[in-house]
Amino acid sequence: MLSDYYQIELKDFDQDFFDLLETVGQIKQPDFKVLPYFHTVYANGEKAGIVGYQPASLPDTGNVEIILAPEYRGKGLIAKIYDTLAQEHHLKTLYATINLRNMTSLSAHEKIGFQRLPAEKQAQLKEKGIIGEGEMRLEKSV
Ligand SMILES: CC(C)(COP(=O)(O)OP(=O)(O)OC[C@H]1O[C@@H](n2cnc3c(N)ncnc32)[C@H](O)[C@@H]1OP(=O)(O)O)[C@@H](O)C(=O)NCCC(=O)NCCS
Repeated sequence: MLSDYYQIELKDFDQDFFDLLETVGQIKQPDFKVLPYFHTVYANGEKAGIVGYQPASLPDTGNVEIILAPEYRGKGLIAKIYDTLAQEHHLKTLYATINLRNMTSLSAHEKIGFQRLPAEKQAQLKEKGIIGEGEMRLEKSV
């Protein structure tokens, strides 16, 4: 697998790199309270993306966010990056809240074992304002 050739490291969140990557609102600016849970991803020593999570109300659970630099996409790095994040932060369950128009992200998450929550649960989350109208919540146990 292509991702086998990449060594992944998670280092401190780098705001300038985030600003460079995030130009169209694919992931939200993390606020200062969650900055310890956000990282710059290094692949073979080079800055490759940003990953992090918002702690969820359940223990050992995080609502993950990821963005890779265009040249690091399509190499299957997403799986390795989430595994590293989960391991370093002792997460057992990952949530992902994805815009339904972001087909690439939806299929990338489903390919690595994220499952869509049942429609009834999605509706409850929408009612409570936890996810937006055009969004879908997926979950994976690690
Ligand atoms: C979503 C994202 C993290 C997926 O990570 P990834 O490591 O690239 O995932 P994969 O390697 O499995 O590739 C996913 C799909 O990207 C597409 N892709 C392949 N090469 C690509 C490239 N060079 N550039 C863009 N997309 C590419 C392919 O459709 C691929 O699916 P396939 O391998 O089944 O053909 C990444 O696409 C990304 O950073 N997107 C922009 C930010 C974003 O949408 N974040 C998620 C918000 S919920």
